[in-house]
Amino acid sequence: MFKWREIYSCNIEEVDNQHKRLLEIGSDLSNLVRNKDGIDRYDEIMEHLGELKNYTIYHFNSEEELMEKYGYEGLDEHKKAHRNFIDKINEIHCKDIDEDQRGVTMEILIFIADWIENHILKDDHRYKDFLNEKGVF
Ligand code: FEO
Repeated sequence: MFKWREIYSCNIEEVDNQHKRLLEIGSDLSNLVRNKDGIDRYDEIMEHLGELKNYTIYHFNSEEELMEKYGYEGLDEHKKAHRNFIDKINEIHCKDIDEDQRGVTMEILIFIADWIENHILKDDHRYKDFLNEKGVF
């Protein structure tokens, strides 16, 4: 679900590394909730979700700075997509997770994995050629 695929590559090392890290954090959380040992993992889940959110914000800021630096004209639209995603993450209710740790967290992870894949392949790939042509790799 959170596996890096070569088709995700934006041909920009820093961006690819950040996307890989994002997928890694998602994968760690996914492995955590797949565990069926019955142990209460609420604190660990919340910690991983927090890390995912913080790293996502870091990545979005870094990507937006790069687009801004080179005058990418789709910046505003791209920023909107980033904000929408952060809003969705902020809407996650701790109580729901506490009541059904595996089920709710898996639902959240499926949403996040789908979003990341679609966003990289559609939105991020729109700036790929533009930045590559500016000599950014
Ligand atoms: Fe790589 Fe626009 O997020």
